[in-house]
Amino acid sequence: MNFISSDDLSREQIMKIFRIADDLKSNKVEITIKEHAVLALLFEKPSTRTRISFEVAMTQLGGHAIYLDKQAMQMSRGETLSDTAKVISSYCDFIAARMFDQSQLVELSESSTIPVINALTDLEHPTQALADVYTIMQHVGRINNAKIAFLGDIAANTANSLMITAAKLGAEIALVGPQEYPPNSTYYNRAREYSKVYTDSSAESGLEDADIVYTDTYVSMGQEAQTEYRRKMFAPYQLNAKTMSYADKTALAMHCLPAHRGEEITGDILDGPKSIAWEQSANKLLLNKALLLYLSETGHSR
Ligand code: CP
Ligand code: NVA
Repeated sequence: MNFISSDDLSREQIMKIFRIADDLKSNKVEITIKEHAVLALLFEKPSTRTRISFEVAMTQLGGHAIYLDKQAMQMSRGETLSDTAKVISSYCDFIAARMFDQSQLVELSESSTIPVINALTDLEHPTQALADVYTIMQHVGRINNAKIAFLGDIAANTANSLMITAAKLGAEIALVGPQEYPPNSTYYNRAREYSKVYTDSSAESGLEDADIVYTDTYVSMGQEAQTEYRRKMFAPYQLNAKTMSYADKTALAMHCLPAHRGEEITGDILDGPKSIAWEQSANKLLLNKALLLYLSETGHSR
């Protein structure tokens, strides 16, 4: 089994991963992965959290991770993804890859005989969404009928994955951003099959009654050429004390990080009492462990 898209997991599979996370958290049982299991982390974009949390997850589960920078691989000299996938599959037990194109991840998985995990592409960030939704459930006490307002770049990879995972579990999702930057129609239409998902170009009405206000950078990796334009377009959608006041008074602020204080979020919100971004980040370790165990338990690991 691969985890390339957030839509690869059914509601039941997501809940099973969350139960594994609960067991790990409560230390109820000692859980380890197959002895000497190895995760290859194949990255062509930078990463702090995803890379470190996967490496630490494998170490703490009794396995090992190898970080593979695409630029230092023969891929940078033209070796195909397919050949690389075959070779990694003959040494390792899992691949987590961070690439620009989602189609490259699909290509990688087609030549792999071990599970392939999406560690972020331009289109999706499925492991992030698992940590996000788990964190929401811990704080709001539920995901079904919880209202999540995604503020800013509602076409971001994080928005695509969050809307699929959270809508599948019954959350209401308001995508709040400028009309000039609509959500990705494929993900938007899919999420609307699962739950109440809608757009709103007004922060005031879009955030009304929200339990969670989520934001991400205005300029995702690979979009640097559009920096000035994006900063201007998204500025009215900054997560700050004013926009936060439109949400429910108990609402919490989330950010996948890395954050740009003064751009998509202000420091007082990110570092203030309403922020659960740091726990959200910490939960990436827990959920990556749970995912790796889930992929092992389903018997698809080598
Ligand atoms: N949230 C997240 O994926 O962070 P990194 O880019 O640092 O991995
Ligand atoms: N949307 C951001 C997420 C970073 C974790 C990016 O792709 O750069």
